[in-house]
Amino acid sequence: MPRVFVSAPLPGDAVDRLRAVADVTVGTRVGDAEFERGAAAWDAVVALLTDRIDAALLDACPRLRVVANVAVGVDNVDLAACRAKSVVVSNTPDVLTEATADLTFGLMLAAARRIVEGDRLVRSGAFTGWSPTLLLGARVHGATLGIVGLGRIGRAVARRARGFGMHVLYAQRTRLDDTLARALGVAHVELDALFARSDIVTLHCPLTPETRGVVSAARLATMKPGSVLVNTARGACVDEAALANALLHGPLAAAALDVFADEPRVHPALLALDNVVLAPHIGSAERATREAMARIAAVNVLAVLAGTPPPNGV
Ligand code: NAP
Ligand code: GLV
Repeated sequence: MPRVFVSAPLPGDAVDRLRAVADVTVGTRVGDAEFERGAAAWDAVVALLTDRIDAALLDACPRLRVVANVAVGVDNVDLAACRAKSVVVSNTPDVLTEATADLTFGLMLAAARRIVEGDRLVRSGAFTGWSPTLLLGARVHGATLGIVGLGRIGRAVARRARGFGMHVLYAQRTRLDDTLARALGVAHVELDALFARSDIVTLHCPLTPETRGVVSAARLATMKPGSVLVNTARGACVDEAALANALLHGPLAAAALDVFADEPRVHPALLALDNVVLAPHIGSAERATREAMARIAAVNVLAVLAGTPPPNGV
């Protein structure tokens, strides 16, 4: 029987599916004692985005044929090292798109309309009644929304934005054809123009060498006074110290972050601010979505073990 290491307990029936054809070990993370003990024997690894899959790990696992990431992002995997060792990599696209777009909109509204600040105020007992100047926030409906990365999740956010009467700009390397852009109600601009012209900027690009630090001090400085940044992509896309500075001294009014450069650590300058909403990387955290992600990872492993290409090869 092939040997499969699963990095953590998964929701749904994914592990049972694997157990039908393989000897499965459910660990606590890639690299834990159990993983190390069986390293020479693993044919497949089901990895989380918190697991680092690099050349050294591949060297320790000579039988490894597939790394199935339970995530759409694969920035935790050294793809070149996997290719060099003929290890197949798969991910879990599509099933988490709408859930992540929902969370993005939730965070956008929470940051712009100061919902979490309001919750803290009420709980503290400091709410003394309606006031014409209490917690005045930024407008969402009718605002200009800049989407960095108009892929699956970016487009799902753009569809939601139409319901809010927003004007949607997008920046990415590939331009949509005019018919699709018209249908989505989006206009292409260069990255710098997107930051300068948007009231709200939201990130939906993968983390790559090109997008690391794409939200830089220089770009933040060009944003409109009172603007808002939302990040449900990857933390390292943002210069977090520069963001904290832009939230403290302007031009930003607020930010909402689901992801951090060095998770689970949060930059202390961000933790000290009231005008940033902090979420613990829960973009896809709906039960049905997470069960579907785990199932897809299992299906990808089963395909490779059966000698066929995985449905979601990267
Ligand atoms: P996707 O469909 O591949 O879309 C990514 C988009 O980013 C593409 O349209 C791509 O267009 C664009 N892009 C790539 N490089 C770029 C660059 N240098 N500048 C601007 N745009 C760039 O991926 P997805 O399924 O929407 O997921 C996007 C990311 O969201 C994932 O990689 C993951 O990191 C993150 N995510 C987070 C959560 C969460 O829990 N918070 C959940 C799901 C996903 P071009 O190639 O034309 O540039
Ligand atoms: C979550 O962050 C993912 O990439 O699926």
